[in-house]
Amino acid sequence: MKFKNSIAFVITAVTVLSGTAQKAVTIQSKTLVGDNIVMFVPTGFDKNKTPSLILENEPVVKGTMPSSWTLVPEISFENNKASARLSLNGEISLYGGGEVTGPLLRNGQSIKLWNTDTGAYSVEGGKRLYQSHPWVMGVRKDGTSFGVLFDTSWKAELHTNSDAIIFNTEGALFRIFIIDRASPQEVLKGLAELTGTMKMPARWTLGYHQCRFSYDSETRVKEIADTFRAKKLPCDVIWMDIDYMDGYKVFTFDKKRFPNPTKLNSYLHDKGFKAVYMIDPGVKADTTYSVYQSGSKNDVWVKRSNGKEYQGQVWPGYCAFPDYSMPRTREWWAGLYKNFLATGIDGVWNDVNEPAVFESDIPESERLGTMPSDNVHRGGGNLPEGPHLLYHNAYGRLMVEASYNGITAANPNKRPFLLTRSNLLGGHRYAATWTGDNYASWEHLKLSVPMSITLGLSGQPFNGPDIGGFLGNTSGELWANWISFGVFMPFARGHACAGTNNKEPWAYGPEIEVSSRIALERRYRLLPYLYTSFYKSSTTGLPVMAPVFFADTKDARLRAEEQVFLVGENLLVIPAFAKNPNLPAGIWEKFSLIDGDLEDKYQATIKVKGGSILPLGNVIQNTNENSFDTLTLLVCLDKDGKAAGQLYIDGYDGLEYKKGDYGLLNFVAQTKGKKVIIKLKDKSGKRDSSKEINKINARVLINGKEYNATGTLKDGVTVSLI
Ligand code: NOJ
Repeated sequence: MKFKNSIAFVITAVTVLSGTAQKAVTIQSKTLVGDNIVMFVPTGFDKNKTPSLILENEPVVKGTMPSSWTLVPEISFENNKASARLSLNGEISLYGGGEVTGPLLRNGQSIKLWNTDTGAYSVEGGKRLYQSHPWVMGVRKDGTSFGVLFDTSWKAELHTNSDAIIFNTEGALFRIFIIDRASPQEVLKGLAELTGTMKMPARWTLGYHQCRFSYDSETRVKEIADTFRAKKLPCDVIWMDIDYMDGYKVFTFDKKRFPNPTKLNSYLHDKGFKAVYMIDPGVKADTTYSVYQSGSKNDVWVKRSNGKEYQGQVWPGYCAFPDYSMPRTREWWAGLYKNFLATGIDGVWNDVNEPAVFESDIPESERLGTMPSDNVHRGGGNLPEGPHLLYHNAYGRLMVEASYNGITAANPNKRPFLLTRSNLLGGHRYAATWTGDNYASWEHLKLSVPMSITLGLSGQPFNGPDIGGFLGNTSGELWANWISFGVFMPFARGHACAGTNNKEPWAYGPEIEVSSRIALERRYRLLPYLYTSFYKSSTTGLPVMAPVFFADTKDARLRAEEQVFLVGENLLVIPAFAKNPNLPAGIWEKFSLIDGDLEDKYQATIKVKGGSILPLGNVIQNTNENSFDTLTLLVCLDKDGKAAGQLYIDGYDGLEYKKGDYGLLNFVAQTKGKKVIIKLKDKSGKRDSSKEINKINARVLINGKEYNATGTLKDGVTVSLI
């Protein structure tokens, strides 16, 4: 499709938008709602037609739009469909759009926002995936940046053209928020001011996760767990996919294959594992099944437009679907988790919540793999009644809000962990995510990097792909390549589809097992840095996994680089597959984390930024073990011989950190003659870190050489350069 240049905006004029004539709508208010954040409200906007399912709080107006403001959208409405257009001036690199396939740099891309179950990203060439992020970020040549949030969940299309960002919906008028700040990092902080930040996750969630569709009996689950420990392959979590259920009925256990989940979970706990179980939205329409009975009694189901209960087929056969737009449904759903989690389940996986509907009596062309667009969601509280066309993209998001509340109520003193397949911009407040059913191919291995970065640039920091590829058989070489950089991604989980080969780190023979162990040990050594990066993300909204252009937002060479990535600000990861990547200028020192890692052909090259200090732990088998009995500080000096870095520590999975029981330690390094002195400069938080950390091992990297010394937290470390 070709889009014409915009014509001047005249209030009553007909504006040309994506080739179709549409009626221009005046903007009723342009107000400042944050530091360089302007809210545009079109005349005729009605929050009972387009409620905000994205923002964390209703914005507070702080003033009018500054007179120097340049980014003003055009809004139009025709045939009950609202659209917006933001003209672009000059060379602008575009990013965002959330969970999408395709390049990191989004200029010239078109995607659809209609959450879809899409195996191997095959539907419409991957331009329609499981989640919707109506958000685009632009970065100008000088590194200044802006972001545009279209505050709607109506079905939509997003076009990121060279001269304009165009957002066409199939629903009512919506508000637009534009952030214009000095850098993309500041814009992402602005996004988090509107949508909230990810909550600090429990430490175990950053370990390695092992999954399969399915480890289908408790015997097999134990075998997998035991093999990790026997082979000394670090791992924290084993996942239970749908086959643990009795006939795929949610909140039940198969009596033969999973006869005693409490016993199984404590077996896993005793070995230092956590257990995550899947819960889907579809509830089997079976009048003898207690969840269907209680749901029906509470009148929670989504309805057809004729008022009848909607039913469609998913795993268990014909199912009813909870209408999560109703407060009483969310409350009922939350309540289901209490007994379920009481078996010792540590985390929950909400899947197929687009919602996917495999078959129903309505033709596929009318429902696009889900329920019909005119199904009715009844709303309540601050949400209006509305059709599925409005609520579809928010279905997963409302489901995870309900699940999150249920998990929190069941275990009020623990940090909840929830993974979701479907979501909406802002839904990172409730759940982490993964990029769905990818394929075991080199193409999808490479694609997983820009996809994960893009999610991070769209407000979802806690994400990652199915390492190894979900669909299709995985070769040892593909696995080893994938896990070797996958361990540096925020969410690191190996997963495999039913009917495919075994995809555990030992499944490909001894050579690949050795490489897998190196990769996993690298992640565990890096956990203190990764955890600190999560802490920063949870307080600022910055991504954990970032594009390399974040290292220098003015460097044009880096804008499209999508093979390599940053973790936090100070670690650069160059996967083994990367061919001639554009790397940031300045001092970046390559380093080793595990004996033999630099010689292993599959491992990613990792580099630390000049001027920074990375906190590293010991190799541990799971996060219950103490990683800090010697803390390693990896120091890379800047051109002035200085460096600084942070370490965040807190409890394991509790909420004490919210009351100040954490330590944020600031380390500094300074060169004096032929010595580098590394010490704790200051610290915030009430936690007595000296109880956890005593010895410090400092590694100073200069021009490819390494100098070491040990010391203590109290006295610091002096490293001699002679
Ligand atoms: C679809 C999910 O994307 C996949 O990860 C899962 O294994 C299957 N559903 C079965 O539950």
